[in-house]
Amino acid sequence: MALFPSLLYSLFLLLFSPAAAATTIPLSLFHSNPSPDPYKNLIHVATQSLTRAYHLKNPQNAAAAAPLSTHGYGGYSVPLSFGTPPQTLQFVMDTGSDIVWFPCTRRYLCKKCSFHGADPSHSPLFIPKLSSSARILGCLNPKCGWIHNSNTTQCRDCKPGSKTCTQICPPYMIFYGSGSTGGFGLLDTLDFPGKRVPDFVVGCSVFSSRQPAGIAGFGRGRVSLPSQLGLKKFSFCLLSRKFDDTAESTALVLDGESDSGHKTRNVSYTPFVKNPNVAGKEAFSVYYYVGLRKITVGGKPVKIPYEHLSLGADGNGGTVVDSGSTFTYMTRKVFDLVESQFVGLVKDYQRAKEVETEIGLRPCFNISGAGKVALPEIRLHFKGGQEMALPLENYFVLAGRSGAVCLAVVTDGVVGPESSGGPAVILGSFQMQDFYVEYDLRNERFGFRRQICK
Ligand SMILES: *[C@@H]1O[C@H](CO)[C@@H](O)[C@H](O)[C@H]1NC(C)=O
Ligand SMILES: *[C@@H]1O[C@H](CO)[C@@H](O)[C@H](O)[C@H]1NC(C)=O
Ligand SMILES: *[C@@H]1O[C@H](CO)[C@@H](O)[C@H](O)[C@H]1NC(C)=O
Repeated sequence: MALFPSLLYSLFLLLFSPAAAATTIPLSLFHSNPSPDPYKNLIHVATQSLTRAYHLKNPQNAAAAAPLSTHGYGGYSVPLSFGTPPQTLQFVMDTGSDIVWFPCTRRYLCKKCSFHGADPSHSPLFIPKLSSSARILGCLNPKCGWIHNSNTTQCRDCKPGSKTCTQICPPYMIFYGSGSTGGFGLLDTLDFPGKRVPDFVVGCSVFSSRQPAGIAGFGRGRVSLPSQLGLKKFSFCLLSRKFDDTAESTALVLDGESDSGHKTRNVSYTPFVKNPNVAGKEAFSVYYYVGLRKITVGGKPVKIPYEHLSLGADGNGGTVVDSGSTFTYMTRKVFDLVESQFVGLVKDYQRAKEVETEIGLRPCFNISGAGKVALPEIRLHFKGGQEMALPLENYFVLAGRSGAVCLAVVTDGVVGPESSGGPAVILGSFQMQDFYVEYDLRNERFGFRRQICK
């Protein structure tokens, strides 16, 4: 069908590098052996997107999130090399967390890491003993506080300034939407072509659950990869995707030297918004909030009360952009209004309710037999007046062989439990296909440009 071209993703992240242009590393769609059935994959991605939303919304309770078959599908991975000589591993890139960690030690234990027949004993590992530059992070090192999100010493037995302290930084434990990991802090060299970054703090995980690969936190915390590298910006361009097994990689480029105030050509910028009320919800402080002001469907604004989109005084609400989410999430109050506007505007196609029940996405419309499919346009309006007009294939997804298309947005209470706290809208990567997006950290703004990403 013409409007759903053969889709495939790719991504570029911008890299830091002094005088020279940005450094580029490959970025690929991360998944292990998805089902050959595109219909099943769609259900999986919808469920996964929602699990991810619960996690971002309720980081403390993440361990209690629905234990759905998980991971990977929908995320992007990058290879990073640590140590001397360098050991290269794949990391899932995650803008919703900050620690960078890898499966570590030969005794690494991964519970429920076997998906679709993948063998966890083949998890690539980092072996600290094989790196001459690896050091265990001590409790007196201020970087130990970074991984514990604290400015106070993590030492129980050593006095600040002690020369003889051998106590290690206490172990970390991180909960993700669909799994967890724990281990201890390590300092080692992060190796990029032409550039070595010594004493990078990285988590050496000794056990995990449902985490088949390490994670590279790209969030806003001190310990994230962009923060530790002092990146001024990173960016990527998402190729259109298809729910099959074809993974094409492109490039991640990290930029440490962007000129202040410089705008990339034709890119629209909207400021990153600080969530000022993150006390008790420190996880929210690593998210990239943006000011989504209005959503129009079919050229008409959806009448969403302002308080549903804005950041509340309790730190809840607001909109984040998140590379780790595939489908966009909208809290029920926002979603219901968007959905009913769609349903009201679509007259030419029948609702496909059975498909909705099965997949957990709605509304779905039966387009079988239709030649050229026309559905109302979605446009996101940001603070500063910037608009993101989404092409059809970024918000409607073909539901396998059913002949139906479904709105690729998830919400509470369709599959899984309801959740109230946290961001009201999470803009996922599916909605950014064929967009170049830029996380401009120096100028605290999010940039985007429609582009055919090749
Ligand atoms: C730690 O100190 C930094 C810099 O002084 C400050 O920005 C940050 O808010 C502090 N963090 C905590 C958890 O107190
Ligand atoms: C910028 O926009 C102009 C006008 O739409 C277009 O001609 C040009 O090719 C665009 N440049 C880039 C780099 O996208
Ligand atoms: C869609 O419509 C076609 C033709 O009217 C019908 O055969 C098919 O069963 C419908 N599919 C769904 C999922 O409702």
